[in-house]
Amino acid sequence: MMIEIPEVLDAAGVARLRAVIDDAAWVDGNATSGHQSALAKRNTQLPEDSAAARQAGAMVLDALGRSPLFFAAALPLKIFPPLFNSYAGGEAFGIHVDNAVRIQRGSEFRLRSDLSATLFLEDPDAYDGGELVVEGQFGARPVKLPAGHMLLYPSSSLHRVAPVTRGRRVASFFWIQSMVRDTEARRTLFELDTAIQTIAQDRGQDDPAIIQLTGIYHNLLRRWADA
Ligand code: NI
Repeated sequence: MMIEIPEVLDAAGVARLRAVIDDAAWVDGNATSGHQSALAKRNTQLPEDSAAARQAGAMVLDALGRSPLFFAAALPLKIFPPLFNSYAGGEAFGIHVDNAVRIQRGSEFRLRSDLSATLFLEDPDAYDGGELVVEGQFGARPVKLPAGHMLLYPSSSLHRVAPVTRGRRVASFFWIQSMVRDTEARRTLFELDTAIQTIAQDRGQDDPAIIQLTGIYHNLLRRWADA
C-alpha cells in the first residue's frame, strides 16, 4: 500500500531544513547501499553521521511526531535516522528492493524495514525526471510530490528513481519498522481507523457505536502489534 502524507513540513519547515543541508558536504551515495543496490545507484548523500544529517534528521522526526496520519498509516515502532540524498545531471537509482535489515553505523540501533519513506524536499517544477517509481499490485506508479510531502511504501516493493535530467532533486529517505509487521493487517487497521474518524465527524467521538468501533480497533491492534 502506498500512502501519501501531505505537508509533513510546510514551506517554512522545508526552507529551514534546506538551510541546514544545502551547504553541507555531500558524498557519493554508495556509502550507504547494500551490494546489489550499489550497482544501480548514482546520486550523492549527506554522510549519515554528519552534523547536518543529524540536525536535519531530528527536524524530520520532530515533524513526523506531529503527524497523526503518519502514525495511523505506519504504526511506527522504530524509525531509522533520516538520511538525505540528491540527484542531478542524469543521476538515477535503478530498480531494487531495500535491504530487509538496516543497521546504523557505529551504534546498536537496527530495524527491520517494513516501510520505506521518501520526503520530497524540492519544488517539482524545479527539476525534470526524478520520479519515485514503485511497482505495486496494479503496476508501476511514478510519484513526484510537492516539497514537504512524503510517500510511504512497502519496503518489499521493487522501486527506482528515474534519471534527473534538469535541476536537482533533494529528498530525505528512511525506513520504518512497524508495530504491525504484516502489510495487510496494517492496511486493515489504517482503513478501519480512517472510517472511524470519518463517521466520528458526523456522530462525535462519544457516540456509542464510535466507542465500540474504537474498542475493536484497539483490540485488533493489541492482537497484531509488537510494541
Ligand atoms: Ni530504495
